[in-house]
Amino acid sequence: MTTDTDSGKKLAALEALKWLEDGMVVGVGTGSTVNLFIDALAAQRHRIRGAVSSSSASSQRLAAAGIEVLDLNSAGSLELYVDGADETDTHRRLVKGGGGALTREKIIAAASRKFVCIVDESKVVDVLGRFPVPVEVIPMARSYVARQLVALGGQPVWREQYLTDNGNQILDVHGLRILDPLAIENAIENITGVVTAGVFARRPADVVLVGDPGGVRKL
Ligand code: 5RP
Repeated sequence: MTTDTDSGKKLAALEALKWLEDGMVVGVGTGSTVNLFIDALAAQRHRIRGAVSSSSASSQRLAAAGIEVLDLNSAGSLELYVDGADETDTHRRLVKGGGGALTREKIIAAASRKFVCIVDESKVVDVLGRFPVPVEVIPMARSYVARQLVALGGQPVWREQYLTDNGNQILDVHGLRILDPLAIENAIENITGVVTAGVFARRPADVVLVGDPGGVRKL
């Protein structure tokens, strides 16, 4: 059964193809919305030089679609990055990392000129923080970082039995009402042992495409 969420994701993913230009290397994120983008990109693979991927899951899907996966170190700056999000506010600041790929996603976002974010309507919020903020941590620092996150007002929950592609662990931080996303991003990333906070405010999306069954709107 196709839900409104599914069709919103698909419409947003298809709309993102409008940002493709011939000869590009495209940054590709991770998640179910991006999977729909990769599936659509497969039909246009002859137009692009390849993709830089934010996760091994996306790399596998890209390769299966016949799209060459390139290393960011050899690709240089990217013109376009397409990725989903767990939440967006109307200023295109995001919470990301539900799929655990936040560090590579933040790196690709930083290295890209244009960041096009694709979401369905359920991801749009007035204030970020309803979705628990993923924080990637160096494993030996997990308990220390958790105590610091409590001091910041959050309730961290260890994502047990899970390791990121970088071999690190994730704390999902509940209960943060993020009125100042940039300040929270900086505060979390200043904790020793934190690799990446899943708040994307320093480098927000340039465009958010919000799909619902009636069409796509742009933030
Ligand atoms: C992965 C992410 C994803 O973009 C986010 O979790 C959204 O996923 P989906 O498109 O499946 O809803 O940040 O780390």
